[in-house]
Amino acid sequence: MAEVELGQAVLPAYKNTLPIPHSTIPPRSSTSYTPMGSYTGLDEAEQRLLVLDVNEDENENESSSEVKIQIRDLSKVSDKSVPILSKVNVDIPRGVIMGVIGPSGSGKSTFLRALNRLWEPPSKTVFLDGKDICDLDVLGLRRRVGMLFQLPALFEGTVADNIRYGPQLKGKKLSDNEVYKLLTLADLDSTFFSKSGGELSVGQAQRVALARTLANEPEVLLLDEPTSALDPISTQNIEDVLVKLKKERGMTIVMVSHSIKQIQRIADVVCLLVSGEIVEILKPDKLSEAKHPMALRFLQLSN
Ligand SMILES: Nc1ncnc2c1ncn2[C@@H]1O[C@H](COP(=O)(O)OP(=O)(O)OP(=O)(O)O)[C@@H](O)[C@H]1O
Ligand SMILES: [Mg+2]
Repeated sequence: MAEVELGQAVLPAYKNTLPIPHSTIPPRSSTSYTPMGSYTGLDEAEQRLLVLDVNEDENENESSSEVKIQIRDLSKVSDKSVPILSKVNVDIPRGVIMGVIGPSGSGKSTFLRALNRLWEPPSKTVFLDGKDICDLDVLGLRRRVGMLFQLPALFEGTVADNIRYGPQLKGKKLSDNEVYKLLTLADLDSTFFSKSGGELSVGQAQRVALARTLANEPEVLLLDEPTSALDPISTQNIEDVLVKLKKERGMTIVMVSHSIKQIQRIADVVCLLVSGEIVEILKPDKLSEAKHPMALRFLQLSN
């Protein structure tokens, strides 16, 4: 069992537990790290360490104790100077599913989109394997950090055309066999190979979109409410695939969801975002222990 410690008070220790592989990451100043924001309702004892046990046996991945993505003092203000994200600091361990929940408008999508530069974060705020993502080739980054949205948008052509699209941009033509393997990985049978996007249900199209993303062999998957438009069976299919990708490939997954139950089913750790700030980082089965008043209210109303 590797101990992964998360939370305001523990991050320095967490940093020790999860070695930072490169020296390009700026140290966090003691005053700048404020994941609990201006909320001062907790006394010191209550701001106790949150120790998360990430079961290495479950992850079947030797490097699961490393940090995959580090976020340091990530802030964003709107054109009208309204804060959208405020000094977000979090380490996302490799090979875990991190759920991101919070009220509508709290900045979840903005946060997610910064991680593959759909929104360009300031330099030295987001690091992938210790490297500032702003220094990476943006298309290369998006191959490594794939994204799925709420509604899948397939290109014209067949399912196979869609799946071949990403590798083709790099000059690689996937064989039929490779396409079949990706279909299987996304829990679709071989009959989908030559179907067109218009013949698919939203749930099936979402799995094709997942297969298309997986064709790029990403290391990280960003999911923005990927199952909110799906029926319970399609939702379960996608959840099963995500858990498999984590367990068998050590994939790191960051998933925004409005479903607390979904987060509790598949996430290893949950970030609670309120008004652009990470106010709590908890294990999914400890959500009821959230202390921040807004987070608590959100959780109570969501259940
Ligand atoms: N391009 C933009 N310009 C100005 N404000 C924006 C922009 N994008 C988002 N916002 C604002 O930033 C805040 C966070 O938006 P975001 O979409 O990240 O929230 P969210 O938590 O994903 O919400 P939801 O749960 O409804 O999807 C909102 O108040 C939104 O109005
Ligand atoms: Mg959103």
